[in-house]
Amino acid sequence: MSLGQSLIRVGTEAKVRGETRYGFDMPQAGDLHLACVRAPKAPAKILSIDPAPAMTIPGVVRVFTAKDVPGEHRLGIIAVTRDQEFMAPGWVRQPYQCVALVAAETLEAARAGARAVQVEYDNQPGVYSFEEAMAPDAPLVQPEHAGGNLLRENKIKQGDTEAALKDAAVVVEATYTTERVEHCALEVEGGRAWWEDGRVMVKACTQNPHYDQADLARFLGVEENQVRVIQAETGGGFGGKLDLSVQPFLALAAWHLKRPVCLRYSREESIRATGKRHGLWMHFISGADEQGNITALKARISGDTGAFASYGLAVNQRAAVHATGPYRTANVDVIARMAYTNNTFNGAMRGFGCPQVALAHEAQIDAIAAELGLDSFDLRKQNALRQGDHTSTGQLLRAGVGLSACLERIEPIYRRWQAELKHTDEYLEGVGVGAMFYGIGNTGASNPSTAQVQWMQNGRVTLFTGAADIGQGSDTALMQIAASRLGLPMERIDLCRGDTDKTTNAGATSASRQTYISGNAVMGAVANLEMQLLQGARDMLKERHLEVDLRGGVLRTADGREIEPAEVVRHLAKSGARVMGEGRFDPNFTALDPQTGQGRPYAAYAYAAQCARVRVDTASAMVKVTDVAAAHDVGRAVNPRSVQGQICGGVVMGVGMALMEEYEQGRTENLQAYHIPTAADAPNITPLIVEDPEPSGPYGAKGVGEPALIPTAPAIAGAVSQALGRPMRHLPISLERVMQALTAAEGETDCED
Ligand code: MOS
Repeated sequence: MSLGQSLIRVGTEAKVRGETRYGFDMPQAGDLHLACVRAPKAPAKILSIDPAPAMTIPGVVRVFTAKDVPGEHRLGIIAVTRDQEFMAPGWVRQPYQCVALVAAETLEAARAGARAVQVEYDNQPGVYSFEEAMAPDAPLVQPEHAGGNLLRENKIKQGDTEAALKDAAVVVEATYTTERVEHCALEVEGGRAWWEDGRVMVKACTQNPHYDQADLARFLGVEENQVRVIQAETGGGFGGKLDLSVQPFLALAAWHLKRPVCLRYSREESIRATGKRHGLWMHFISGADEQGNITALKARISGDTGAFASYGLAVNQRAAVHATGPYRTANVDVIARMAYTNNTFNGAMRGFGCPQVALAHEAQIDAIAAELGLDSFDLRKQNALRQGDHTSTGQLLRAGVGLSACLERIEPIYRRWQAELKHTDEYLEGVGVGAMFYGIGNTGASNPSTAQVQWMQNGRVTLFTGAADIGQGSDTALMQIAASRLGLPMERIDLCRGDTDKTTNAGATSASRQTYISGNAVMGAVANLEMQLLQGARDMLKERHLEVDLRGGVLRTADGREIEPAEVVRHLAKSGARVMGEGRFDPNFTALDPQTGQGRPYAAYAYAAQCARVRVDTASAMVKVTDVAAAHDVGRAVNPRSVQGQICGGVVMGVGMALMEEYEQGRTENLQAYHIPTAADAPNITPLIVEDPEPSGPYGAKGVGEPALIPTAPAIAGAVSQALGRPMRHLPISLERVMQALTAAEGETDCED
């Protein structure tokens, strides 16, 4: 069977040959080109927009403004915070918000037109940090929002944290910060739209075609079935393609002009206009007993979500829920708060707040160990969540808790690296550890997926899924699950994916949820298909009580007869019936109590532990991450090679978050100024797969997409801290910060606080 085999991902050959057409590659000859007119500053009132100068440019066909939006202006994936205007109606809330859209016969004409549109702004006072946003009488970013500039507060309360801290043998307290991070997907946002049979067709890169369809219909003021969204091959997303980007502009222009239109963001436009990872401020107070058992965590977390909520609620809630890290903590008092500001919005990015809080919970463990003179690795093992433990939300972990196994896998490597540590005049070495748990799927909310599996008359099987493969490998994983459950080789499975006309909603490719949730939907679809085949066989053979089952892709009767399912399919086709199984899966969850955060936010958790070895050059302050060992409990590796690929990709992204990535509005808006790791920055990575099956997962599988990244930056921060002999509590650990630490006198207090 194909499950558990390292099959080459479907579509790989075309990608390697350069034949794959991504959203960015959609434009065709004869298409109109679009270009956005973007506001330089926010907030501002728009006093006037004069399209006339643009219309004099040869090739310019039309200039759209907010007046041309026939439906609702305010869009967004989370219904309670639908607040993002794609064509600003009268005011701008964030820099580079689009205020007008130019359609022209050529890209050059569209861009010249966008430059020629005259817009008069009246700049208004704004807020640009959490503190400014929360100040009394601060100007409101979203006056429509009931909570003023406070987007949301999430609390987790368990036990008596004050008492536990008072009784603790050791209390460690520190502040940690992370900066805003840009996704930098290889493919910049792009797509195409056209008018066909009285409907708008949009083919663009996306992580969530069915959500796009719903919001585009809202934007155009039409029924959902008047918009068809087809997911173009998507060259990476990492959360950045969960929000709409080019799609509303494409849909609007095609709807008005009834012509094919295309739009591709430049890299600068992508960096300036789309969401970022939230930078978080995190104040952690942890208590432990003399043996190093963690007894309490008091944490205060705050973040700036920018002008639009996007996934701000999800990030805030996840940061709170995962603040303890994967460690038993009986007494917990966490408050996480997120504020609107007039900065470019922050949204979903690989891990939703967990990579940020992981920096804090891992450094706190190291600090407790240092205070008590205990081994920090032993402390992690000792406090690691195990089967039968409860999380900070009071959730009992019943099974599939593979954290200890992950720690055991990396321990020999960690011990060896510690033993090999060298400090010379030229360089200092250090080793650090990061661990994590991560809830699969949306937090305390329904997030179902659906799928269909159809057995065709020719004996082939088609899997229908709305799940967007964005390069992470869900196509292959879901096909492997279907093939294995059917008992067929992969070659017999065809895929129909990510088209709102042909597939049903699988929810977002987000929150590491597709293997677990859509995989379960596929399992359900096959079970349903199987039932139809068994019924069909009884009908065909006119034996009402025939005992038959589907094994190895063949129907087998109790008395030893074998029937090809396609025969049954052809039999049923005579009466006009098709054989298509439907599946649906929604993880078992409860909503969190708004006051205490108690509940069961996720049905399943992934676990991981990574260790990193670094070398710090004492002259240049350069940090080289030389090695990372990464052990991940994925429940069951549907495609081990694909899991290893995710782990390696996550680790390299973690190197960027740890050492170099920091988005500064107005400064780092191209790839010359915003640095991401290259192959030269990639460490030697040892991906280690741990399989502690999740009882509710398809074949025990959970997920790995986000977990792959989460422990890396904390492990690197721990390693640099060891090398420098002082805690590095602020990401990125830039050259300046390392230089500062290197030159700070021994014994001085932490130079950064
Ligand atoms: Mo992700 S942040 O769930 O795309």
